[in-house]
Amino acid sequence: MFFLRKKKNRAVLEHKDKIPVHIAVVMDGNGRWAEKRGLPRKAGHREGANTLKRIVTECDAIGVRYLTAYAFSTENWNRPKDEVDALMSLLLEFLKNADKELAGKNIRILVIGDTERLSDEIRREITRVVSNTSANTGLSLVIALNYGGRCEIASAAARIARDVKDGRISPQDVDEKLFSEYLYTKGIPDPDLVIRPSGENRLSNFLLWQSSYSEFWYSNILWPDFSRNDLHEAISEFQRRNRRYGGL
Ligand code: IPE
Ligand code: IPE
Ligand code: MG
Repeated sequence: MFFLRKKKNRAVLEHKDKIPVHIAVVMDGNGRWAEKRGLPRKAGHREGANTLKRIVTECDAIGVRYLTAYAFSTENWNRPKDEVDALMSLLLEFLKNADKELAGKNIRILVIGDTERLSDEIRREITRVVSNTSANTGLSLVIALNYGGRCEIASAAARIARDVKDGRISPQDVDEKLFSEYLYTKGIPDPDLVIRPSGENRLSNFLLWQSSYSEFWYSNILWPDFSRNDLHEAISEFQRRNRRYGGL
């Protein structure tokens, strides 16, 4: 059973069953949040990072197993250099502080995306934080960094082609299960719920393969304003949906 009780305008998840195993969020609207306040866009990204920390803690507390956060897309390189630099320096700061912030929280950090194009310093931090948290058994926070769904699928196809050419697999072996194992998300279940705030109703190259049967939840809230309450609303709506997977 599930339902949402409104208590002083707050959504309270009354029943903890049917919690999505994997929630994916497009952390969008940081720039507009800042512009509305007359602040530099960078201030919005910083506030967005704080929102992520809150949502990570809440997801872990309610038993979500995976939270994938879209932090930087393969298309975000098209932004002005000073914005890309600001995003990269925030990312570095987030990774550097991750152990301290997550101390005692049992959270594992994973990164998906093409990390080759990131600076050596960021790559070193990724390796460090992923390895330091690898034994943690609570929520897995999957950070999508220089991530693009098409890039992921194309690179999987290229590696499959190489393995066929080298005789490691044959074309008949290539099915959905095998293909999934060539994606960045190998071993991670598909997202049950994809949340996109900021009023944009699109996927923006996020988890194209993995979201084929995900439930979508859109809202006009800008990511820095996204609260625990909004998370509960999204989960409650998810719990009311009937997932049919093409059946009856
Ligand atoms: C999302 O916020 C952060 C990244 C894309 C890295 P935006 O920067 O896209 O914010 P808006 O959409 O311009 O408001
Ligand atoms: C999606 O947001 C990417 C991230 C949140 C990292 P964008 O702001 O880049 O998406 P578009 O350009 O509006 O589609
Ligand atoms: Mg945006």
